[in-house]
Amino acid sequence: RGRTLSFVRWPLAIDDHSAWRYEEDGGLLISGGRIVASGAYADVEKQAGEGTKKIDHRPHLLLPGFIDAHVHFPQMQIIASYGAELLDWLNTYTFPEETKFANAQHGRRIARLFLDETVRHGTTTVAAYCSVHKASAEAFFAESHARDMLNIAGKVMMDRNAPEGVLDTPQSGYDDTKALIAEWHGKGRQLYAITPRFAITSSPEQMEMAGALCREHPDLHMQTHLSENHAEIAFTQQLYPWSRDYTDVYEHYGLLGKKSLFGHCIHLSEREADALSDSGSVAVFCPTSNLFLGSGLFDYQRFRCRDKPLRIATATDVGGGTNYSMLRTMEEGYKVIALNGEKLNPFQSFWQITRGNAEALSVADRIGTLEDGTDADIVVLDARATPAMRLRMETVETLAQELFLLQTLGDDRAVREVYVAGRPAKSDIAI
Ligand code: GUN
Ligand code: FE
Repeated sequence: RGRTLSFVRWPLAIDDHSAWRYEEDGGLLISGGRIVASGAYADVEKQAGEGTKKIDHRPHLLLPGFIDAHVHFPQMQIIASYGAELLDWLNTYTFPEETKFANAQHGRRIARLFLDETVRHGTTTVAAYCSVHKASAEAFFAESHARDMLNIAGKVMMDRNAPEGVLDTPQSGYDDTKALIAEWHGKGRQLYAITPRFAITSSPEQMEMAGALCREHPDLHMQTHLSENHAEIAFTQQLYPWSRDYTDVYEHYGLLGKKSLFGHCIHLSEREADALSDSGSVAVFCPTSNLFLGSGLFDYQRFRCRDKPLRIATATDVGGGTNYSMLRTMEEGYKVIALNGEKLNPFQSFWQITRGNAEALSVADRIGTLEDGTDADIVVLDARATPAMRLRMETVETLAQELFLLQTLGDDRAVREVYVAGRPAKSDIAI
């Protein structure tokens, strides 16, 4: 029981009430990990059986659990690495850090702490990059499966331009990916993503292999990085001199498509944006990372509103990103969009990190909506979580204002509880 809020479609404006469902006194009836009834509490209560346990979260908000569409679990210990842009940051901090994941025990420890942290921040689903090591993906999936979380992940494929300790080969990258798919894809709620890290760290032979994997498994996600930084783009052009542009490299190897997730997409030409749009590919907006690494300003409104619009997701990109919270992420996103002369209203923000990301990841039939029959992944938000928020709430009059306050001042402290497949998951975590 609580104030339930979920989205039906993109909210065109702040008064576009039919874009969302809000119940001041709402109820969600949960059984077998799923939402089986929802609506006004009084109606839902009538459908509840005798022994139904009642949990009262009033006056807090109940929303679909947040979704983070691009994050690197092996980068927990390099957040706040000072002073570098993308390629130096990768070489100085990221690749050396990821070599540690050759050790399976290290991977298991960080996977556990990583999923603790995402849940504590209200995120119930991530699309995660593991390290190059098969064991890191095994650790991640085992931890995710034990928690019954719906997560998407893959071992990165990378066979050049990085230290020996984080390289595979075209054949071993293919074989390990195949074995991981066989073991984990569709096991419980686990989903595998074919994950060539980016064009710079994959040889043409490995890109061919990634393309073959996508053809052999058309139902799987593919995730990679695209057009994040000028030096990265120039180096890619040098490595693939025949390509029309960066996007063309992925296009050439058959990596575009409706389940393809491209992190960053900051410096795209119109041709590249057309190619992504025509193929139904997803551009992933990572505001805290793009600001932290000085990569640039993602043009959210241009991509949304062009003749051939892009499908857009949002994400933390931890450890290039600087916060696990999707609230903090949308706050930075709001500022990036403001710098491009536009405003994202609070309903649009909350649509994006729930239903919007679920649609972008093609899982909106399972999560992100609170609709009957979907999985009971829920976040409970408290807009009075801190003294400053409590004080500001004294003057808040509308739901839109409350959501904008949550986005502007909220973080893990505003997350009172999280349900994963119907079970309390935040209060479970020892801090
Ligand atoms: N490009 C290739 N690898 C990475 C990574 O780990 N983080 C970011 N932000 N960009 C990348
Ligand atoms: Fe990334």
